Amino acid sequence: MIQKASAIAHPNIAFIKYWGLRDEANRLPANDSISMNIDGLTTFTSVEFDASFQEDHLSLNGEEITGKSLTRVQKFMDRIRQLADVQVFSCISSENNFPTGAGVASSASGFAALALAGTAALGLDLTSEELSTLARFGSGSASRSIPGGFVEWHTDPDTGNSYAKSFAPADHWDLVDCIAIFSEAHKPVGSQAGMLLADTSPLQAARLQDAARRLEICRLAILNKDFAALSAITELDSNMMHAVMMTSNPPLFYWQPGSLALMKAVKEWQSEGLDVTYTLDAGPNVHLICLPNVLDILIERIRTFPGVINVLHGKPGGPARLVSNEGIGIAQK
Ligand code: DP6
Repeated sequence: MIQKASAIAHPNIAFIKYWGLRDEANRLPANDSISMNIDGLTTFTSVEFDASFQEDHLSLNGEEITGKSLTRVQKFMDRIRQLADVQVFSCISSENNFPTGAGVASSASGFAALALAGTAALGLDLTSEELSTLARFGSGSASRSIPGGFVEWHTDPDTGNSYAKSFAPADHWDLVDCIAIFSEAHKPVGSQAGMLLADTSPLQAARLQDAARRLEICRLAILNKDFAALSAITELDSNMMHAVMMTSNPPLFYWQPGSLALMKAVKEWQSEGLDVTYTLDAGPNVHLICLPNVLDILIERIRTFPGVINVLHGKPGGPARLVSNEGIGIAQK
């Protein structure tokens, strides 16, 4: 019997970043994190289980995937099979409407959509918390793409329970994430490998020690819609994570000169009174978080900014959700 389901999920951008693991085997992050999903950027994933398949197959944007990326997904499917207590293999087809592997976290939306479609295809009806817990094993940030809107991924230090929950819906605050793309190439050191080096930086301990304070400020800034407070804590947190990356052994430089130039430009635009702030993940692309009234002027400035090859933008997005197997396509460019 063929069992099939399809789901969509959005990537997310973290204001307070996850960087480092406290327990690698259980995928427990070194610190809690806060993010918002990005509407308009979408991963669409279909999963089909069939007793005739000899192993799991994966295609991404129409291309058959092999090697390490396939192994990572096969291990994740093993986890789903274990939950459903079945031995049957799957055929997975996934499409992104945004560049893969360049600072827009495709692994987040990818594993969130896969967790939902994979479990639904086998008839499992998991809660948001259970799905977020499962998605975390594919990619930590995927745990945050399961619930909608503004999300906090928390680990209970006593029980080890670790999943993300929404603390404000997508329509709570009409922020926009405007992403300046400097490169669409795969980064040389992915976040999974990069963050294993976090503890080699003498700055990581200080970053972790201060995390609860930053989380509190960020959560309140979002709940109170206080852009100035959000801006200050978002930049600090991004800069602290990149300081850890740059002081790891070996050091990791995810920025490009253009990324730094744009961060400096943002500081000037702020002094003109524009409500905009920046944050960067493990890649050269710069996420400019802004209020909608400055979006047009920002897009105009970024489009002509040296080194920028594309600009994407999205407002706060909803949760991962099931869609019909025929698919919605990826029409939301
Ligand atoms: C810099 O979730 O991609 O984007 O759990 O190893 O798959 P793995 O890492 P991943 O790391 C994301 C790191 C980040 C910061 C963040 O999104 O919190």
